[in-house]
Amino acid sequence: MKALVYHGEGNISWEEHPDPEILAPTDVIMRVDTTTICGTDLHIWKGDMPEVEDGRILGHEGVGTILEVGEDVKEWKVGDRAIISCVSACGKCEYCKKGLTSHCMDPEGAEGIGWIFGYMIDGTQAEKVRVPFADTSLYRIPEGVMDEQGVMVSDILPTGYEIGIRDGGVKEGDTIAVIGAGPVGLAAMMTSSLNGAKRVIAIDFDENRLEQAKEKFGATDSVNAADEDWREQVLAMTDGGLGVDVACEAVGVPVTLQNCFKIIRPGGQVANIGVHGAPVEIEMNKYWIMNIRLSMGLVNAVEGERLLGGIKDGKFEAENLVTHRFAMEDMMEAYETFRNAKETKAMKVIITQ
Ligand SMILES: NC(=O)c1ccc[n+]([C@@H]2O[C@H](COP(=O)([O-])OP(=O)(O)OC[C@H]3O[C@@H](n4cnc5c(N)ncnc54)[C@H](O)[C@@H]3O)[C@@H](O)[C@H]2O)c1
Ligand SMILES: [Zn+2]
Ligand SMILES: [Zn+2]
Repeated sequence: MKALVYHGEGNISWEEHPDPEILAPTDVIMRVDTTTICGTDLHIWKGDMPEVEDGRILGHEGVGTILEVGEDVKEWKVGDRAIISCVSACGKCEYCKKGLTSHCMDPEGAEGIGWIFGYMIDGTQAEKVRVPFADTSLYRIPEGVMDEQGVMVSDILPTGYEIGIRDGGVKEGDTIAVIGAGPVGLAAMMTSSLNGAKRVIAIDFDENRLEQAKEKFGATDSVNAADEDWREQVLAMTDGGLGVDVACEAVGVPVTLQNCFKIIRPGGQVANIGVHGAPVEIEMNKYWIMNIRLSMGLVNAVEGERLLGGIKDGKFEAENLVTHRFAMEDMMEAYETFRNAKETKAMKVIITQ
């Protein structure tokens, strides 16, 4: 088969690779019908994650068709179509039982790490993929849900929803702000309707992304973070000017997390989604008195059913994240387009076989 293979810092290629085989009785082998590229894949490509081995197939998102099933697989049969979760959950360990599948203790890939696809084991940017723990790591595609929508349930929608909205404690009638209108921030904005957010304020520098946030991703308002009075603008949009109920951070740099604290009301919550590469200083002397909560975490991808329900019921349009489409043999072009997102305005690129 053909696959997108990582060969060390700055070196990936679309090349011939041996077909995957069943290694454990809970595995299935799938034909990858649709996949996409994540910012994390770009980090691996750049060499930011040197633990990834030379020869690894990248990718942790996909929709596919089952070609072969291991003897202990109960829920799936050859020919079934499914969404592949970015997290491989054994379903049996303490963490999986608690819904913290991102810390799955099974030794598959690496003990204590649930996200192993395209990282510790071969991933989904290939014609075929081996999927471990099929019974607990695949989602059935409801009727009426297209592959382009389904593939967003692998990673991007659960990241925005679980870490931003659900763990942020967003509830009916809330006013929320999302700092960062990239794919992750937009995923948080659009899925906030599942929890009944009333007012959704998008904050970014990029006017194009702010416009899109309002047009297609459920934001009711936007504020340009470059405006000197950005904070006052946000406060003016909240009840009594007291601040938002929940502020989601979806960038991953110190200033945006600090800015979240500047716009929440007493009793509110800051939900950090961004991956930080440096320590962040928080003025605890100022904020301790405000009865606020700070949450953070790695996606578990356990809310797939809920997200698929939202897509099916028309609560949000996941396909709006798709900006470009490629055939699988044009994988390298898809990577170039996604890497140059500033020029190409790429959000999610869809790759189909
Ligand atoms: N927690 C998790 O499980 C998880 C999973 C996936 C990604 N992430 C993280 O989520 C973050 C966002 O990912 P993405 O793919 O959407 O990134 P992105 O780079 O596409 O988008 C970030 C956006 O933030 C904006 N921005 C930058 N500085 C800003 C500032 N000072 N104020 C306001 N806006 C600013 C940019 O203009 C851009 O639109 C990253 O840190 C990523 O690593 C976390
Ligand atoms: Zn990802
Ligand atoms: Zn587990």
